[in-house]
Amino acid sequence: MPSGVLATRAPAKVNLTLHVLGRRPDGYHELESLVVFAGAADRLELEPGDGLSLRIEGPTAAAAGPADDNLVLRAARHLAERVAFLRMGTFRLTKNLPAAAGIGGGSSDAAAALRLLASLNGLPADDPRLFDAARRTGADVPVCLDPRARMMRGVGERIGPPLDLPPLFAVMVNPRVSVPTPEVFRRLGRVPGDLGPPDHPAVPGRISAGDLVSLLVAGGRNDLEPPAIAAEPVIGTALSRLRALDGCRLARMSGSGATVFGLFDDCRAASRAARALRVAEPSWWVKATVFR
Ligand code: C5P
Repeated sequence: MPSGVLATRAPAKVNLTLHVLGRRPDGYHELESLVVFAGAADRLELEPGDGLSLRIEGPTAAAAGPADDNLVLRAARHLAERVAFLRMGTFRLTKNLPAAAGIGGGSSDAAAALRLLASLNGLPADDPRLFDAARRTGADVPVCLDPRARMMRGVGERIGPPLDLPPLFAVMVNPRVSVPTPEVFRRLGRVPGDLGPPDHPAVPGRISAGDLVSLLVAGGRNDLEPPAIAAEPVIGTALSRLRALDGCRLARMSGSGATVFGLFDDCRAASRAARALRVAEPSWWVKATVFR
């Protein structure tokens, strides 16, 4: 078993589509979403040792809140309740992603913690206790355990097989506002035109980048976009800015916002767009990246 420091990336989770199918009796909403993972990521290290602790550093650490409440520790505790004599230690989280931003940063960090603990303790990646601990930690954590493109349904617990999607060149933008998820769901249905037709486009196992983008434009949407824009109009501004940039094929919000993304034909177009946006809006978080 490993004894040195273990490390892994915790990539941003992006909803290329997010269709709300209905409301359940418990108040939660049934979703259908095509999820991909970005090159933009946090980094998590685990130094094996006695007890369990977490240090948070990095450019967006201040927004991540106190370490005690962090999903990394919650995930570790949930796993420790399920696995006897679980070896743990000191986690060090380098936060690069904006927090509470609709890109599953906290969920991805929690899933990364479970992966590191699995590796430290010799648990196989498909150990059901990992999935259980992930689900107890948060609805978005299970899909982040093995961060590959997939369809996600229900409230996040029904996860499809990995999809062989082409890399998509993207710019992610966070206009430095945070919209509480419950508020976005509360507003859903009150904004005219915020629920589109029910069908989610079927995503074939193999598809070219051009065809995928056409499919996303024609049949995909994020139903949480209108209520999130109603709560924070700057999200609409960020989408308009992206759409106005040379070569932007699609601009959409991820999750319940406020992060939005633009898809571009190639890496150069995405880098150029990111540079232009940084000059125009120096206070926004802007990142050229690849979705897979
Ligand atoms: O999953 P999370 O705890 O971030 O969700 C926050 C709130 O968003 C929930 O309490 C619920 O009001 C709403 N929500 C929902 N349907 C979902 C996910 C979240 O209604 N699938």
